[in-house]
Amino acid sequence: MNMADQIALLHPGEMGVTIGACLLAGGVGVGWTSIERSEATHRRASAAGFKTYDTLEKLLTESAVVVSVCPPAAAVNTAKEVAATQFNGIYLDANAISPNTAIAISEVVEAAGASYVDGGIIGPPALRQGTTRLYLSGARVSNIIELFNYGALEAIDIGGSQTAASALKMCYAAWSKGSAALLLSVGALAKAANVTDALHDEWALSIPDLSSRLQRTAQRNAAKAWRFEGEMHEIAAMSKAHSLPHDFFSAAAETYALLSSYKGVDVPPELDEVLRTMLDSREN
Ligand SMILES: NC(=O)c1ccc[n+]([C@@H]2O[C@H](COP(=O)([O-])OP(=O)(O)OC[C@H]3O[C@@H](n4cnc5c(N)ncnc54)[C@H](OP(=O)(O)O)[C@@H]3O)[C@@H](O)[C@H]2O)c1
Repeated sequence: MNMADQIALLHPGEMGVTIGACLLAGGVGVGWTSIERSEATHRRASAAGFKTYDTLEKLLTESAVVVSVCPPAAAVNTAKEVAATQFNGIYLDANAISPNTAIAISEVVEAAGASYVDGGIIGPPALRQGTTRLYLSGARVSNIIELFNYGALEAIDIGGSQTAASALKMCYAAWSKGSAALLLSVGALAKAANVTDALHDEWALSIPDLSSRLQRTAQRNAAKAWRFEGEMHEIAAMSKAHSLPHDFFSAAAETYALLSSYKGVDVPPELDEVLRTMLDSREN
């Protein structure tokens, strides 16, 4: 692919907009489509200077590569929409999805004539050097990897199987978001049983950093919990595919579902409010 070619970014969310900005920094054009997207995505894309298209068809006609960075639960549908246009360039899925979902997506886009590259992003939105890595795998990685090594983003060819990048992302998130869900569940359980103060007193004696960790976990994750639900289901599916226990991750998905009402909230809620929301959202 030439540096002069354009990449279609689906979609400029919190993470996606920073990937697009890194591409622009490397001299690659970035286009996006405003169809069905919210005002927040419009604002991000405009501020970043991406080219706006009013249809997916027009965007893809002028793009050599698609980069899918969307909620994991929307990744398959996004691929189907792209395949419906007969897009025949390179399709990079950089979402937190299981290897089996990645294979399903590769089959969808390749049936329409595209080439699939698998990706997984680890780190916060790519704003500072050294924080954010885009892991890539698959036969066509060498065609696109140089595009993603600008700005704050570091692209790494992980090698291995076609879906190794997704597998790595799942294992990473299994710990980071799985342990966060466990801690939130413990906090909610203690609140339900009226032993919150006693638990924090015991933690202060025996596991000193856990109270502050629970506080940070609640504040950082509440607004993104709706998206983590889908990611936890993907990890459960991967565990099941390897004949490993998977109910833990299904339960983590349920935990995050209890917090889905925080979607779009700008101000991080306090721990006590988050735990109360979990208890109030329980099925009776
Ligand atoms: N944020 C992070 O720190 C982070 C870190 C590592 C990996 N990632 C990965 O990056 C991906 C996207 O994360 P993000 O932080 O950019 O999420 P985000 O801020 O929620 O943005 C997601 C983008 O996808 C769009 N979208 C929402 N619902 C959609 C649907 N049903 N179909 C298609 N598009 C939809 C959103 O548009 P509207 O809201 O305007 O509809 C938005 O533009 C995920 O796979 C995530 O696992 C994120």
